[in-house]
Amino acid sequence: MTARDPLLQPYTLKHLRLRNRIMSTAHEPSYSEDGMPTDRYRLYHVEKAKGGIALTMTAGSAIVAEDSPPAFGNLHAYKDEIVPWLGRLADECHGHGAAVMIQLTHLGRRTNWNKADWLPVLAPSPVREPAHRAFPKEAEDWDIVRIVKAYAAAAERMKAAGLDGIELEAYGHLMDQFWSPATNKREDEYGGSLDNRLRFTFMVLDAIRAAVGPRFIVGLRLVADEDWDKGLSREEGLEIARRLVATGQVDFLNVIRGHIETDAALSKVIPIQGMRSAPHLDFAGEVRAATKFPVFHAARISDVATARHAIAEGKLDMVGMTRAHIADPHIAAKVAAGREHDIRPCVGATYCLDRIYEGGEALCIHNAATGREATMPHVIARADGPARKVVVVGAGPAGLEAARVAGERGHAVVLFEAASEPGGQVRLAARGPRRRELIGIADWRVAQCERLGVAMRFNTLAEAADVLALDPDVVIVATGGLPDPSLVGEGADLVVTSWDILSGDAKPGADVLLFDDNGAHPGMQAAELIAEAGSRLEIVTPERFFAPEIGGLNHVPYARLFQERGVRITINSRLASVRRDGNRLVAVVGSDYAPATHEREVDQVVVEHGTMPLDGLYFDLKELSFNRGEVDHRALIAGRPQAVRTNPDGRFQLFRIGDAVASRNVHAAIYDALRLVKDL
Ligand SMILES: Cc1cc2nc3c(=O)[nH]c(=O)nc-3n(C[C@H](O)[C@H](O)[C@H](O)COP(=O)(O)O)c2cc1C
Ligand code: SF4
Repeated sequence: MTARDPLLQPYTLKHLRLRNRIMSTAHEPSYSEDGMPTDRYRLYHVEKAKGGIALTMTAGSAIVAEDSPPAFGNLHAYKDEIVPWLGRLADECHGHGAAVMIQLTHLGRRTNWNKADWLPVLAPSPVREPAHRAFPKEAEDWDIVRIVKAYAAAAERMKAAGLDGIELEAYGHLMDQFWSPATNKREDEYGGSLDNRLRFTFMVLDAIRAAVGPRFIVGLRLVADEDWDKGLSREEGLEIARRLVATGQVDFLNVIRGHIETDAALSKVIPIQGMRSAPHLDFAGEVRAATKFPVFHAARISDVATARHAIAEGKLDMVGMTRAHIADPHIAAKVAAGREHDIRPCVGATYCLDRIYEGGEALCIHNAATGREATMPHVIARADGPARKVVVVGAGPAGLEAARVAGERGHAVVLFEAASEPGGQVRLAARGPRRRELIGIADWRVAQCERLGVAMRFNTLAEAADVLALDPDVVIVATGGLPDPSLVGEGADLVVTSWDILSGDAKPGADVLLFDDNGAHPGMQAAELIAEAGSRLEIVTPERFFAPEIGGLNHVPYARLFQERGVRITINSRLASVRRDGNRLVAVVGSDYAPATHEREVDQVVVEHGTMPLDGLYFDLKELSFNRGEVDHRALIAGRPQAVRTNPDGRFQLFRIGDAVASRNVHAAIYDALRLVKDL
């Protein structure tokens, strides 16, 4: 099958032979240092090259000029010093058989002036982009000339670095801000007719071709339908695509549908979990049919079957599986080896993308090695020493990852779980229909553990005696936590927790106040369930906006539902106490800002305040272990084995990971496990 697999067929783009049809589209992971793609950046892309990808589009929006201040760690394509960094990246990826290109852009209004060199942000017209909030100046004639030159100079640098080509970003950025009637209000030769709106683009293409010659690959990642009443229509979008092809100056079209000026709009271009799979694939296929030109596309094509369909049905020439590679950089190699079932699934959590908009770097919710290739392995090596007996207690994300990695190391692993099924809090979260893909985090690990011969014992509430009976060398306590409603001063016994709602143990009341003092998913998921049940709901939070931990794209489905259902959101407020009044409850709400309190009469109060560690077993075992549970943090960070021995009478090494230590998130739990157990 693999020899005839449509996904694995080579593709020739101009003169460039791509070894298969799988690519990663441009995405800025924010791993840059001072705008340069240093070691972390390079190793991230090299891992995908090792994993068999045909084409990795580096950067996301590498900026061609200083007055396009980096919005999320963008590479500085306007600096000569980028050439050797990219050269090394390209050489190493080429060494592993992958082609390398880069996306170049001027962000126009899609950034902010209060960064980098504090230059004013510009756009075709002074129309503010809500997502980045800058009020742009209208680009002057000399700005346009300067930026055209900057594009050409950047393209020349990319060619000098030995890259296989470039892609110009034209959705939501300066180039297509000229195309769109929503952002181009000009009355000069750059506004009005389509010819005028395309003038800047053709100036850029002419200048780039003059700089890099006809052979170098130049493509566009372009919006061909803004799906927006005030934006670019499908007809105009297709016409732009045709005109670009007709210039003979571009070599591929990477098709986008939608606009990105708000998070809500962006979530249609880059759908997250609970949203449709491959929503724009047919449209991309229509662009391919209309232009008869090489077409690339990515938008939630996260599984191999859909990717294969996209190629087999002739909708695309190259299929983008971008987040899928953040979750597993070895997709193509696994497909080629007949190991499709071993691919770590992208569960659409979009923790990766939401982090970069919050100023962090892209990290995968359940692959802690991504972006940490210098220190964390994607492929776990077998241990050199003798196999050890490892007992893991708790089959949530932390425990499952610990068991998987210990199994890969070649150790004999027993995994205890009190519940009848694995997954812990992930299983609870996946009960919500919109987030059910999260169960892939548990299912993939269980399948890996089965392959590795891990003995999984469900329905077993392991006590110290059960653990000791196995005479282990290493014990890892990953027992998680339990919800903690104790922050309510008076009336803690009257409230239910978000877990009660999520698990179905408590039915939503008719009139509910939900106090979220965590700011993450559990409270919002409970709120979602309550609102969907038709209850009247008020969310009270001490934060400045609701659920600050979840990020912009994950905010969208919650915000949409809360608005549709008329959920009241009260910020800057705290639940002070709850008391009974007949068959109703009175919630007293105060704030950190003023002494006044307000009372709300409801029939259910739900509290979300993270978890308290379930650490009884850990403390029962502590004095019996030779390290008394102590972790040498320096060794952990440096990737050295743990060597603490503070108790000469101890019989085993003991560790505690995940929420059994403190309430955190899935990524933290999995990272705890991977970095500890990879050195066991
Ligand atoms: C962390 C991250 C950063 C991104 N940055 C860019 C970018 O700078 N330019 C761009 O064209 N697309 C960017 N994207 C969008 C991706 O190229 C891709 O279109 C999107 O992730 C949908 O494809 P997927 O479902 O295969 O992930 C980014 C995506 C992620 C996850
Ligand atoms: S964080 Fe979620 S969406 Fe992003 S790569 Fe990982 S699994 Fe996929």
